[in-house]
Amino acid sequence: MNFDVVDLIRTKRDGGALGDAEIDWVIDAYTRGGVGDEQMAAMAMAIFLRGMSRAEIARWTAAMIASGERMDFSGLSKPTVDKHSTGGVGDKITLPLAPLVAVFDVAVPQLSGRGLGHTGGTLDKLESIPGWRAALSNEELFAQLDDLGAVICAAGSGLAPADKKLYALRDITGTVEAIPLIASSIMSKKIAEGTSALVLDVKVGSGAFMKSREQAEELARTMVDLGNDAGVRTTALLTGMDTPLGLTAGNALEVRESVEVLAGGGPDDVVELTCTLTREMLAAVGKTDVDVEAALADGRAMDIWRRMIAAQDGDPDAPLPVAKHQHMVVAAESGHIARMDAFDVGVSAWRLGAGRARKDDPVQAVAGIELHAKPGDEVSAGQPLMTLHTDTEERIARAVDALDGAVSYADGAPDLPGIVLGRVE
Ligand code: URA
Repeated sequence: MNFDVVDLIRTKRDGGALGDAEIDWVIDAYTRGGVGDEQMAAMAMAIFLRGMSRAEIARWTAAMIASGERMDFSGLSKPTVDKHSTGGVGDKITLPLAPLVAVFDVAVPQLSGRGLGHTGGTLDKLESIPGWRAALSNEELFAQLDDLGAVICAAGSGLAPADKKLYALRDITGTVEAIPLIASSIMSKKIAEGTSALVLDVKVGSGAFMKSREQAEELARTMVDLGNDAGVRTTALLTGMDTPLGLTAGNALEVRESVEVLAGGGPDDVVELTCTLTREMLAAVGKTDVDVEAALADGRAMDIWRRMIAAQDGDPDAPLPVAKHQHMVVAAESGHIARMDAFDVGVSAWRLGAGRARKDDPVQAVAGIELHAKPGDEVSAGQPLMTLHTDTEERIARAVDALDGAVSYADGAPDLPGIVLGRVE
């Protein structure tokens, strides 16, 4: 059946609900080019302002899945489980997590994307490893999953192509932060990917799409229901993103920190979140009697990491690139650090060259921020707080500007929340 896209935009603009056939048609016509970007942009803004019912979100998701191919991992000898984070600053958890989960004879098909805006992208991080290749054929992907249990690679262009177009459009039209659009975007890719179980890491706070706990809970509930209704066993953890995760934000810097975690060290928050998500993923496929900390400490996860990097032509022993220019930011006051704003640190790292403004912009592997103190730490005025890294010296002044007001201080030790704030199943 054919519809008039302007009628459908008006329906949504005026607060009405779109029917199943209307949703199927608009997604299909947009994917094929029959509905233009300017029309879909108007529709996305109408959805942003008016919202969607659960039934509309489920149909929108199904239509985006139907726009492309579906993968099928049922032929593998192991169960599959995937993790998806809604995105944050310094969120490198996928890197230590995929090999750690694979230690327990579970396959982790981590089909990932590149960074857009102030949050980093997993592929950009891994591409700072000399030689590492993001694009794998389906045959290579299956062979690596069977052999090692862990793959992090680029999602092929055949998976939910409607979302690829729509996400790029939302990014340039101020329509990213809408729960129906985020939920359908993430879940269409994850359901099409064919994993049997999925754990969502829904970030809450200044450095996340969802700034409040209520919004994050609604997003988590929407995605968990979409996954379970589609036969993917799905749970979500709500985790804090007011402060950057770990002590690094930026591609090569985050790889270095991930390797420290795989070597049994690394910052406590990164280790805690990696282990908590690993347990959640293993429980989703029925493995509950597991000692995940031991698999980090005794090198089993590191062994899989090294083989995983080498299988994609990366050299796990090659030195990571280092920035030509470094700039120290010092504490403005003495006292305890009460707050270090994740969004500001993310924007600063992005201005240094760690992220991209447009889809095809290059990123600097070396750019980013290293933190020397975090909220809760006591510092003296003038003490090093952060080191900014970049290959482009002119970028430093604007990166420093982004940090204006990012850090606040208190006389006594602040009361800080834990990293995991809630769970939705
Ligand atoms: N990640 C996605 O894949 N889609 C969104 O809409 C937001 C984050």
